Amino acid sequence: MQFSSLLLSLSSVLAATVPISGAPPNPNQVYIKEITYGGTGCPANTVAIAMSEDRTTFTLIFDQFVASSGPGTTVTDFRKNCQVNVDLRYPSGFSYSIAQVDYRGYVNVPAGLTATQKSNYYFSGQQNQISAQSVFTGPYTKDYLVSDKIEIAKYVWSPCGSVARGNVNAQVRLEGNTSLAGQITVDSIDGKVKQTFGIIWKTC
Ligand SMILES: *[C@@H]1O[C@H](CO)[C@@H](O)[C@H](O)[C@H]1NC(C)=O
Repeated sequence: MQFSSLLLSLSSVLAATVPISGAPPNPNQVYIKEITYGGTGCPANTVAIAMSEDRTTFTLIFDQFVASSGPGTTVTDFRKNCQVNVDLRYPSGFSYSIAQVDYRGYVNVPAGLTATQKSNYYFSGQQNQISAQSVFTGPYTKDYLVSDKIEIAKYVWSPCGSVARGNVNAQVRLEGNTSLAGQITVDSIDGKVKQTFGIIWKTC
């Protein structure tokens, strides 16, 4: 895992809004009101979202979060991204931090190709940002689990208040000899991409 202070423009346009179904949240406790996403790796209606009953954790399952290279591909296939915004509601007096993000996926790259999974984490309205990445150097053919155990509390804090928006910009990309066939997904056993977000809460 590596940290940087890279500033990221909010160029990813949110393509879809996903209403969360289930029991109404407790207004005296923190909860996720809404999740939106957009990017080349997550066009509208290609992401399934599952939420814990207390709305403090959720899972994303992607259909099209795949970077690929080789015959038949173009430069836009070499890199895919997905920006996920988590709209949080919580009582006054609480701040929060994202504690852990797990990426499950699959890499298949020959010698001459490198696959990278990278994520930037930040809160809207703040400049602090942290970045974590994993690099897989070919030859490499394996399922992977990347667990970003990030102490975001040290770097990024939301203001105390009733609304906050956390952002994750995730990407997968292939570099090197892109005429060689290669692939990286963020993936689960069923071949789809899955992200789990754990959120912890802390008093001001
Ligand atoms: C890239 O891979 C192709 C296909 O194997 C090969 O023909 C070509 O020489 C490679 N290019 C470089 C710069 O290694």
